[in-house]
Parts: sequence; structure tokens; C-alpha cells
Amino acid sequence: MPGAERVTVEGQEAAVIADGVSRIFGPLRAVDRLSVVIPRGVIYALLGPSGSGKTTFLRMVVGALRPSEGRLWVFGIAMPSRRVAQRIGYMPQAPALYPDLTLRENLRFFGAVYRVSRRQLEQRIEELATDLDLLAWLDHPLYRFSGGMLQRASLAVALLHEPDLLVLDEPTVGLDPLLRRTLWERFRLLASRGTTLLISTHSMDEADRCDLLGFLRGGRLLASDTPAALRALTGQDSLEDAFLILAGHPVLPVEPPR
Ligand SMILES: Nc1ncnc2c1ncn2[C@@H]1O[C@H](COP(=O)(O)OP(=O)(O)OP(=O)(O)O)[C@@H](O)[C@H]1O
Ligand SMILES: [Mg+2]
Repeated sequence: MPGAERVTVEGQEAAVIADGVSRIFGPLRAVDRLSVVIPRGVIYALLGPSGSGKTTFLRMVVGALRPSEGRLWVFGIAMPSRRVAQRIGYMPQAPALYPDLTLRENLRFFGAVYRVSRRQLEQRIEELATDLDLLAWLDHPLYRFSGGMLQRASLAVALLHEPDLLVLDEPTVGLDPLLRRTLWERFRLLASRGTTLLISTHSMDEADRCDLLGFLRGGRLLASDTPAALRALTGQDSLEDAFLILAGHPVLPVEPPR
């Protein structure tokens, strides 16, 4: 793809462009010659079995890991780049926060890293803590948090500086249905305002809410299309069955109850 960084989608510069990107760990190609264009303002989900390379790809997109091969651009800037890091919010699969600091202290720390102005920061902290149902926990140290609360704290950090690209690695694992719904409403709102969301998920229910899905297996992107197109491609009505087919498993007929 010569000049790939200038790929535009409907007149807009793409949010993420990968051109033959691989990441090699010793004998393993964790991500194998992956090419994809992710337009702005969409919710794009990576699906695939455990170990298929989702996290590894996301880490390259945010600039935490360098590709072994190929080229990667975010908003037209070659990654890794410090300049573009400021425009990305990243929620890693394992929360990377300070357990001895309170939630407020964690958010202030990351707010300073992302250069959010002091006044704006205090307002954002209140807003996010309210939305994520963490208001009562703002002044408690994170070591006292439950798994789902830590997950939400991590999400608050990713959302703090209102990034143009949100990269969320399994963002709603361990959240109850009500919170999950609230978050999806927020994701949709963000996308409608032009934020691009790149997420990974194992939940087919969630995948179905996305605009585009990429299916990874053994580091290779086997398909990248809308949920409806992936159903049509595999001839399956349910996304779960489409997933199983793409993952290389036969879909067994379900016995009707007797
Ligand atoms: N730093 C590393 N060094 C060596 N191997 C690694 C490293 N990071 C990931 N891998 C390997 O790369 C492969 C892809 O891992 P990755 O975490 O990207 O998978 P995943 O699709 O995110 O899986 P899951 O759904 O379980 O989160 C796995 O085989 C993993 O063991
Ligand atoms: Mg992962």
C-alpha cells in the first residue's frame, strides 16, 4: 500500500491503518501480516479465540509495542509516536493503576500526564465517577476495590482526556448488565461525536452492537466487515455460530428440548 497513510474513508482521514503489520515473539507470529483500515467515528471490535493476537495488535496501535514488520498509522502519523499518544485513550486488559493511591489521586496523576487543565480535570473526575458509579469510592485506595470496580476505574482513566481514539481491551468483562448498558450508551454517544473506538471482546452480544468486526485467528485477520456481512459470509444467523465457523469449529445442531 504505497502512500497508505493517506487512505481516506468518505473524505476523512482514517483513524487507524495497518499495512502488513506483524509482531513476532521468538518462533511465534502473535500478529501475522495484518492489514486493516478503521474509519473515524466507528466502533470496531476485534474478535477471536484466546491467544489469537488481539491484545498484541491493540498494544501496537497505542504505541506500547513496536511492529516487527509492516507499518501502522494512527490519524496519519506513523506509530509508535509520542505526538499521537496524547490523542489515544487506552484501557489495558490488566488494569495498570496505582493500588496504594485513591481513585481521585490516580485520576489526577493520569490527568497531569495527559495535560488536562486542573479545572477541567476536577470536573471530569466528578462526571466520570458519577457515570461509572464510583462516586462513593473516589477517596478510597484502589487495593480495596473489587474486580469490577477496578475495571471501571481503568475505564475512567482511558476516558479522562476525551481522546479521539479509544482503545479498550475487553472493557466490560466483569460488569453487571446495568453498568454494561450504561457504558454502551456512552460508547455510542462518543462514536456519534466522532470518537473512534477500537475494542476487543469475547461477548457476541457486544460484538453485535459494533459497526465493524475483525476476526483474528492465529494472528491473522480472517475477516473484517459488519456483523450482518459476517453472518452472511458464514451462512449463520447467530454471530456466535459465525464466530465458531471462523474459529475453525463445526457448528453442531442444538437438540430441541424433549
Ligand atoms: N510479550 C510477549 N512475549 C511472548 N509471547 C507473547 C507476549 N505477548 C503475547 N504473547 C503471545 O502472543 C499470542 C497472542 O497473545 P494476545 O495476548 O495478543 O492474545 P489475545 O487474543 O489478546 O488473547 P485473550 O483473548 O486471551 O486476551 C499468545 O500466544 C501469547 O502467549
Ligand atoms: Mg487479550
